[in-house]
Amino acid sequence: MFDFTPDRSGTETLSKPELYRQLASAADALTSGEPDGVANMANVAALMWEFIPTLNWAGFYRVIDGELVLGPFVGRPACIRIPFGQGVCGTAASTGETQLVEDVHAFPGHIACDAASQSELVVPILKDGTVVAVIDLDSPETGRFDDEDATGIEALAKLLSCAI
Ligand code: SME
Repeated sequence: MFDFTPDRSGTETLSKPELYRQLASAADALTSGEPDGVANMANVAALMWEFIPTLNWAGFYRVIDGELVLGPFVGRPACIRIPFGQGVCGTAASTGETQLVEDVHAFPGHIACDAASQSELVVPILKDGTVVAVIDLDSPETGRFDDEDATGIEALAKLLSCAI
């Protein structure tokens, strides 16, 4: 049995850097030696859901034939295909840059898959300089994500570059 949960021993709440360090370590342990990218994304979606508080969606979109296609996730069913340049995910994919959106209603072209989503963090995963997937986190709280979340998920994206 796998038991990957945040280790809160001795503290009331983990700092974000420590939480993301533990998440990366669990993701590394779960994916190392496994060549199947979909299996690895499925386990990491489950880990993100387990580790990161106040989310209503956590998962992946993969780049397939020049568009984003829904990958493994936890949350409500979501839009299946997103063209590059559209929505928060398509913007991250086309620019290759993290999108930290405090209020999705203020983001032009935001694609609402779940009406509960109020803020969003999307981080591209690059392989040899090309975007191959994005990590997408949604929260029902406005302003849920900050630079520490972005840094933590960017570290996870780097680690996954070889695992998906
Ligand atoms: N909100 C995203 C679409 C994906 S869902 O949030 C799962 C976007 O604007 O690209």
